[in-house]
This record gives sequence, structure tokens and C-alpha cells, in this order.
Amino acid sequence: MKSTNITWHDSTVSKQDRQSMNDHKSPVIWFTGLSGSGKSTVSVALERALHERGIRSYRLDGDNVRHGLNKNLGFSPEDRTENIRRIGEVAKLMNDAGLVTMTAFISPYREDRDQVRELLGKGEFIEVFVKCSLEECEKRDPKGLYQKARSGEIKGFTGIDAPYEEPNSPEVVVETDRQNLDESVETIISYLVKQQLI
Ligand code: ADX
Repeated sequence: MKSTNITWHDSTVSKQDRQSMNDHKSPVIWFTGLSGSGKSTVSVALERALHERGIRSYRLDGDNVRHGLNKNLGFSPEDRTENIRRIGEVAKLMNDAGLVTMTAFISPYREDRDQVRELLGKGEFIEVFVKCSLEECEKRDPKGLYQKARSGEIKGFTGIDAPYEEPNSPEVVVETDRQNLDESVETIISYLVKQQLI
């Protein structure tokens, strides 16, 4: 903590006020999984489905956020941790603003994800494990990055020569190598409805 002499200033409009105006809660739906597992695809489809139901939402995506807010970060373990910490803080602001927030980052370290879980209120962090075998992700290779990682052109690539730690008890699991896109979206929506979040 570098800042000193800073004081928190409360709003008179609370998160609850915003949620009741929207008529839904504002959970953070945290997608995690290997590159190419389908985090972006599933979150984009979920965002569309929520929008069509009249739900106010916003989506933060790894490659997009790394173009701006986090463009000074690379893929070392420290930078990935800082990437997730910042996204966690942004997601918390959106949670406070009353939006259903979706994040699509590899977020390979369990501890980093758990830190974000701690940052949010109970029941507000919905970890969605986008499960897909490395073999299938590598076959899809939508950005040609696995090939580059295998040839040594990219070092420290998740799943090849950098770790991915699977969640121990995610709220939701979608299996993109077994389910189709609609089924994955429906799995998440059913969870949100069951928990009375939307
Ligand atoms: S995270 O590990 O810090 O959560 P993030 O989701 O922001 O990663 O970014 C992952 C995306 O960056 C991948 O989908 C891929 O397009 C790109 N990328 C570039 N280099 C790497 C790397 N070494 N490991 C993983 N992804 C990488």
C-alpha cells in the first residue's frame, strides 16, 4: 500500500439500491480455463442471453483488458497475479455498480482466484470452470499460439510450460469439449436463476 492520508467516502446510493432498481443481483461470474477452452465464446453468448432478458451486465476479457488497463503486464507469474488482482478490483466496482459482471481470464493460479473470492461478498463470486482438455484446446488453437509455444517461439505458455491450476470447487463447470454452446450458457443461467441472482 503506497498511498497514505486517504479516506473512504461513502455514497448515499448503495449497491442494494442499485440492485433493487435493476431487479437483479450483481454477481461476478468468473470464467477460468486454458487458452482456447472457450471462456470468451461462452461469456459473449452469456452476455447476449442476459441482455435479452433485460439484465444489466458487462464483460471483461483477457485479451481486451491487456490492450488497455493492463497493457504494462506480461505473462510472468507476478504479472499474471497483478493482472488478476486488478481485474478483481474492477469487477468489485462493477458489482457495486449493480451490474452482472463476467470476466474471461485464464487466471491460472488458484490463490489469485481465491483472493478475488475473498474480495467479494459471500455468494457474489461465481467461479465457472471452462473445462476442456489440453489436447482439444491445442487442436482448436484459434490464435495459433499453442503451435508457437510448442516450437519454443512463446515461452511460459499456460498448459505447455506454465501451470494451470484447476478449481477445487467451482460453482459451475461447463465442458466445452462435450457440451455445445447453448448447453453451456443454459447451465450457467440455470445456476443464476436457482441462486436467485437473476
Ligand atoms: S492470465 O494468465 O493473466 O489470466 P489472460 O487471460 O489475461 O492470462 O491472457 C491470456 C491470453 O493472452 C491468451 O488467450 C493468449 O491469447 C494470450 N497469451 C499470450 N502469451 C501467453 C502466455 N504465455 N500464456 C498464456 N496466454 C498467453
